[in-house]
Amino acid sequence: MKIALCGYMGSGKSTVGKSIANQLNRSFVDLDNCISAEEDRSVAAIFEEKGEIYFRHKESEILKKMVKDKANIVLALGGGTPCYGQNLSVLKEAGVQVVYLKLSVDALTERLFLEKDSRPLIAHYREKSELKDFVRKHLFERGHVYEQSDIVIDAIGKTPAEIAKELTALLD
Ligand code: S3P
Repeated sequence: MKIALCGYMGSGKSTVGKSIANQLNRSFVDLDNCISAEEDRSVAAIFEEKGEIYFRHKESEILKKMVKDKANIVLALGGGTPCYGQNLSVLKEAGVQVVYLKLSVDALTERLFLEKDSRPLIAHYREKSELKDFVRKHLFERGHVYEQSDIVIDAIGKTPAEIAKELTALLD
């Protein structure tokens, strides 16, 4: 059984994913990194040079290949992955256990403001209040998709190690 972590940008999917993979002795794979490797450029460069629609097609294509692969991995999805095309059904139909790392708008904004420059959807926000408005609206649009995950973890105020421990106990 594969495990896929979903959640908004900055929710800790990669950090928590690595920790869970370690605890379960599985390999960790980051979907954004796979897209980046296949395109030989950063996600930001793909958005800038080829556009978001191109990125979304590649994201779906690579995700489909990945779920077909038999290896039991821990996969960190991109923040938008379950929200586009048939991606969520593809994951569910393949029996992948989808986990939502749920954080508040405030917590996400605090984290994202520090690391927004590498993220094409939010790099242009200069004021924290503007970023917060965007995150609130965007999370409102996407939240109902994330909530369809098999497991929802309240990640507020928890370290990646604590979240990984909580999750591995639930997976047993
Ligand atoms: C995106 C999130 C990013 C990346 C791309 C689009 C999104 O992944 O896939 O910039 O639509 O939320 P992270 O959530 O890993 O930052």
